[in-house]
Amino acid sequence: MDLYEFQAKDLFAKHGVPVLPGAVAQTPALAEEAAAALGGPVVVKAQVKTGGRGKAGGVKPAPDPAAAHDRAGDILGMDIKGHTVHRVLVLAAADIAAEYYVSFLLDRTRRTFLAMASVHGGMEIEEVAATHPDALVRVPVDPLAGLTREAALGIAAAFPQPERVADVLLRLWAAFVAEDATLVEVNPLARTASGEIVALDGKVTLDDNARFRHPDHAALDDSAAADPVEARARERGLNYVKLDGGVGVIGNGAGLVMSTLDVVAHAGERFGGARPANFLDIGGGASAEVMADGLDIVLADPDVRSVLVNVFGGITACDAVADGIVRAFALLAERGEPVGKPVVVRLDGNNAVRGRDILRTAALPGVRLVDTMDEAASLAASLAS
Ligand SMILES: Nc1ncnc2c1ncn2[C@@H]1O[C@H](COP(=O)(O)OP(=O)(O)O)[C@@H](O)[C@H]1O
Ligand SMILES: [Mg+2]
Repeated sequence: MDLYEFQAKDLFAKHGVPVLPGAVAQTPALAEEAAAALGGPVVVKAQVKTGGRGKAGGVKPAPDPAAAHDRAGDILGMDIKGHTVHRVLVLAAADIAAEYYVSFLLDRTRRTFLAMASVHGGMEIEEVAATHPDALVRVPVDPLAGLTREAALGIAAAFPQPERVADVLLRLWAAFVAEDATLVEVNPLARTASGEIVALDGKVTLDDNARFRHPDHAALDDSAAADPVEARARERGLNYVKLDGGVGVIGNGAGLVMSTLDVVAHAGERFGGARPANFLDIGGGASAEVMADGLDIVLADPDVRSVLVNVFGGITACDAVADGIVRAFALLAERGEPVGKPVVVRLDGNNAVRGRDILRTAALPGVRLVDTMDEAASLAASLAS
C-alpha cells in the first residue's frame, strides 16, 4: 500500500523524522483556515499518490491565508497523471538552502535492503542517477544488523552536515523497520537557511504481507472507498477486483480465474462485446459460506447480468463444491437475497460427475450446467448481452 504524503509524514513524525507542521484540507475555505492556524507563509500541496506534483503545478506557495484559499482552489480538482486531487496539504513553508535525496528500499534483485542518498535532491532520482552517477550513494543495509551509526555516517559523508543527516537516516531506518515498509523516500530532504534538516516530501510503501502486524495501518487504506463492492469483499476476506463488464466471474485459483477472464472476453466478441465484470478467486477450499459470500458480492454489482462459476476440482472435489453452490443458494434465499440472475456452472476435475449430478438434482433456479470452459464462457457472454 502506498501512502499519501500527509500520511507518510505522520509516520515520519511518530519516529522522530523532522517534518513541518501542516493540515489536510478538502476545500479552499478549510485551506485558508489551516493557513491562518499555522500562521506565516505556507505551501499548498496536492495529495495524490504519484510523484512530480511540483512540475505538474500541484505544489504552490501562498504567503498568506487568502492566497492559500486561492491556490487550494487552483489545485483541488486538478488531474495529475490520471489522479484527481481531492485534498491538499497546507504545509508551513521552509526557507530552503539545499535539497537532498534519501531513501531506504527493498532491493529485490539483490535480496537485501538498500540505502540511497544524494546531495542533488529535489529532482527525479532517475535523472540524478543519469546525470550525476557519482552523486548517488547506494549502500546495502544488512537486514539482521540493520543500519549502524557508522554506516549512517558513511552514507552522509558527502553532505555538508553529516552528523545531522546521519541522525535523520537512523530515524528514517527505524520507521522503515518498525512500520514494515518496502520504501521510505524523502525528496527533498531540505537544509533550511537556519541549518535545520527537515523532510519536505515523503513517499512510503507499506508491505501488505505484514498487515496483520499493524492493525493501525488499516486506517491508512482508502482504496476501499473507491469501490463499495470491493470494500465488502475485503471485509469478507475475498480476493475480488471490480472490472467493467457484465459477466460476473467466480473461480478457484488465481490462474484459473485469470484464464476465465480471457475466455469470457474472447467469447464476448461474438456477443455484443460482453466482458468480465470482475475477478474473484474463492480459493482452494471453497466452502458453502465462501461460495455464498462470493455469489453475494458478484451479484451485488449492478452491472452483472450473468454469472460464470468456473471450478476445477483438485484438493477440493467437485461434489463438495456443488454442495457449496446448493447451500449458497439456500443461504442467500435465507438472507432474503435469492439469486435472480442466470448462473452458468462449469465443474471439472476431481469428482466432476458426482458434482454435476448434485446440481442437476437440485435444479436450482437459473443455474445452467455446461461441460467445457469455452461453452460456459459463450453461454455466460450470450446471457449477459
Ligand atoms: N514546505 C515547503 N516549503 C517550501 N518549499 C517546498 C515545501 N514543500 C515542497 N516544496 C518545494 O516543492 C517541490 C516539490 O514538492 P514535493 O513535495 O517534492 O512534490 P513532488 O515530488 O511530487 O514534486 C520541492 O522540491 C520543494 O522545492
Ligand atoms: Mg518530491
